[in-house]
Amino acid sequence: MNTVIIGAQWGDEGKGKVIDLLAADADVIIRYQGGNNAGHTVICDQDEFIFHLIPSGLLNPGKLGLIGNGVVIDPEGLLKEVGQLRGRDIDVENALKISDIAHVIFPYHKKLDQLEESSREGRSIGTTGRGIGPCYVDKVARCGIRIVDLLNEPVFAEKLRHNLTEKNRLFKLLYNEAPMAFEPMFEQYCAYGRTLRPFVVNGVRFLREAMQQGKSLLFEGAQGTLLDLDHGTYPYVTSSNATAGGACTGAGVAPTAIDRIIGVVKAYTTRVGEGPFPTEFPPELMDSVRTRGKEFGATTGRPRRCGWFDALIARHAVWVNGCGSVAVTKLDVLDDMPMIQVCVGYRVDGKDVDQFPSDMSVVARCEPVYETHAGWMSDTTAIERVEDLPKAAQASWKCADHSIATVR
Ligand code: IMP
Repeated sequence: MNTVIIGAQWGDEGKGKVIDLLAADADVIIRYQGGNNAGHTVICDQDEFIFHLIPSGLLNPGKLGLIGNGVVIDPEGLLKEVGQLRGRDIDVENALKISDIAHVIFPYHKKLDQLEESSREGRSIGTTGRGIGPCYVDKVARCGIRIVDLLNEPVFAEKLRHNLTEKNRLFKLLYNEAPMAFEPMFEQYCAYGRTLRPFVVNGVRFLREAMQQGKSLLFEGAQGTLLDLDHGTYPYVTSSNATAGGACTGAGVAPTAIDRIIGVVKAYTTRVGEGPFPTEFPPELMDSVRTRGKEFGATTGRPRRCGWFDALIARHAVWVNGCGSVAVTKLDVLDDMPMIQVCVGYRVDGKDVDQFPSDMSVVARCEPVYETHAGWMSDTTAIERVEDLPKAAQASWKCADHSIATVR
């Protein structure tokens, strides 16, 4: 059984928890897009782990993990995480594999990310500043440097020299910034290449052999559908395909290899960074849910914007990803709410909207249409079966589910 887990909102849905649960039945866990902009938090035996690049399912002993070709890799961040796993006595050298054709993040990508953000003046995206966008830009422009290049020093030297010359020209002419030096960067990344060499594999072959041996694969999506480069709230998105289709291109498996797709939603909605957010809470509610739900970015520590559950975006996500089921997280954060609102659609210019609009200026003007439900006002943290949830919690979810399901 090969499963893709995707975020059905703006990321931070609690995918790490669902992945950790499903990893028990999987053999290989794969990251297929994004980079260390992601932060998957897993609490295991009272210890908290935040994974940015390494598939979080690797916390389960005996599992294999692959960082697929669709991921952009910051070697410095990756090696820090490798150290974190070694500290847990996980045989990371044998467990972790890295695709040889994944692209590499360089210091000039991070610098460009930050310079571009500050030059956007009032139109900033609110990126994580990790160099993700500029690295994908180089990939698309066909001048990116891949893991395989780090292992071939003469080829690497030539590519890096070319890229650095171009970037330094940009720094000087566009941003009036000091140039970056070739030699120390080259030496440092050659050293990363030597350290990473034992992990590097041909990802396509690795997964083909795993499938031929009957192993089951778990594809760990990062970010969420509304941050997808194509299907999200463009331009307030990340630079990769966070939707299920990204699993095929970002890992090198065929669509026919995927057996099921599970979407993860939070019982409310959050987003980090800029961009329209129709169900965003007013300030008082924002503070209480943010505190109760510990809604601070796992990567940057930024406070997350919070709002009511939005079935319209969940519906969009279910359709675009082909989710056969949806996992709901953090319902208990709403335990103390006397009243719950579920957004079942939008209205704009007096008209009903039943499809997530493509024009972000329209999304910014959309008025959510809410169904209001009584809160359940009781502790749900220890409940293990849906049937045991308070009736009011079941009613709220039924309303959301019905609204999502209208397109299935
Ligand atoms: P970037 O991926 O750093 O370029 O940031 C682009 C947008 O995606 C920003 O709004 C970020 O806040 C958002 N973003 C990136 N990664 C995550 C994540 O893991 N969770 C939530 N938002 C994210």
